[in-house]
Amino acid sequence: MVDPQLRIGGLISMILLYLLAAYVAVGIAVAVAFVTVGVAQVQPMPVTVGARILLLPGAFVLWPLVAVAPGSPPRALAGSGLGGRTRIRVGARSATAACSGRTAGHRGATAMSVGFRAVQWNRDKLVYDGLLLAALALYVTVFLIVVPRLEPPKDVLGEIDLRIRAFGSATFLMLTAILAIGPLTRLDRRFLPLLYNRRHFGVLIFCVALTHVWFMIDWYLVQHALPNLGTELTTWADYGKFIGFPFKVLGITALLILFVMAATSHDFWLSFLTPAVWKALHMGLYVAYGLVVMHVSLGAMQFNHTPFIPLMLMGGLATVSVLHVLAARRERVIDQGTAVGSDGWLLVGAPQSIPDKGARIVAVPGGERIAVFRDGTRIGALTNLCAHQNGPIGEGRIIDGCVTCPWHGFQYRLEDGCAPAPFTEKLATYRVRLRGGAVEVDPRPLPPGTAAAIDC
Ligand code: HEM
Ligand code: FES
Repeated sequence: MVDPQLRIGGLISMILLYLLAAYVAVGIAVAVAFVTVGVAQVQPMPVTVGARILLLPGAFVLWPLVAVAPGSPPRALAGSGLGGRTRIRVGARSATAACSGRTAGHRGATAMSVGFRAVQWNRDKLVYDGLLLAALALYVTVFLIVVPRLEPPKDVLGEIDLRIRAFGSATFLMLTAILAIGPLTRLDRRFLPLLYNRRHFGVLIFCVALTHVWFMIDWYLVQHALPNLGTELTTWADYGKFIGFPFKVLGITALLILFVMAATSHDFWLSFLTPAVWKALHMGLYVAYGLVVMHVSLGAMQFNHTPFIPLMLMGGLATVSVLHVLAARRERVIDQGTAVGSDGWLLVGAPQSIPDKGARIVAVPGGERIAVFRDGTRIGALTNLCAHQNGPIGEGRIIDGCVTCPWHGFQYRLEDGCAPAPFTEKLATYRVRLRGGAVEVDPRPLPPGTAAAIDC
């Protein structure tokens, strides 16, 4: 006689499995249809965001083809600013000549001067990844040398347990670090280089989490007890408990979130899902972080009474929370907005109050942020959201005549918000005027790419 709980669990899993198989099959069929139509046509297709999300499985099969297809190159990203003179160093992504009339030979111009060539790797990316890997290797090595001296493992299971803990805690610390980067760059521009290759950081976090899980599976395998894991996860009565809750489920959910984020980290996904949806999807990192805190609180912390675990959890949570609150306080000042005049225009201030080659960010209360830039005597206003990953354009600089996003170096002309050729992104612009010696901006956006800059 089969346990009715097991029968119901099995039935649910079977239905879910069939649904998943059907979903993937439809996705693959669509992908095949797309490929037959022509891969280069896929990206510009006017498919709604909802449909794109539905087509995700097919796109997973398809994207490596599209990403290398001629005519739809993956977006090359600029230099990271690691060691750069201005902290924002423009590389392959800059179109120097188009912005300032300068020619090749200038820094960063070579990669662009003979036309666009997708750059997957560059020196700064390699340095970034190298430093990440070195820090990870150092942490795991120190952990595996120091902790056994404090708590010597009794047997092979104890040794595997150490590896589980080394990679688990490394994942948690890396998650804390990646969540701290955003607010840190808001508080101090010197942290901007950390932002540049955040996606590789994210993918590495997923790989480290996977290693943690692999050692956990190994722990069961050496005892020939892998089915016990299945039993643990399907003992439904335990889900009603606080102490004794199957904490591994929380880890599995966090791992799935990290997987989706790592799998959609390529720029192809950015254009496939649109920056707004991609960004919303990647906010899942906060959910994953919360799940991991619960995974450790209900798991390791209950049976391992070392003070380091609560210290790590509380320290991590406090760091992430405090940095976000501080950054939000700074942002709130802008979001409180500036009162509009009787004709609906916003007062920005004297032209000299806008830093040369920089911007002042203004907004109507609760409205969209507008970046008002000054390049000598030229003044222009653009939306504050970069077309790449919605980075804060107004925190960037004018480099080689182009407004340059501080995050990855996408560039736009001050005149009309258009990215210089061969790029095609366009930002919404805003009308500006000079009245009584002060710059004013009309908060109603103009269609992206409309010329609106003035001379003051
Ligand atoms: C994003 C995914 C995950 C993260 C960030 C994570 C993180 C952690 C951390 C920080 C610890 C405590 C380490 C310590 O004691 O110092 C831990 C413990 C543990 N995790 Fe995970 N975990 C994840 C996923 C999983 C999954 C999917 C499983 C199993 C299916 C799992 C199983 C365990 C086990 C069994 C322990 C207890 C180890 C011990 O102290 O003996 N974890 N995890
Ligand atoms: S360049 Fe990436 S967000 Fe602007």
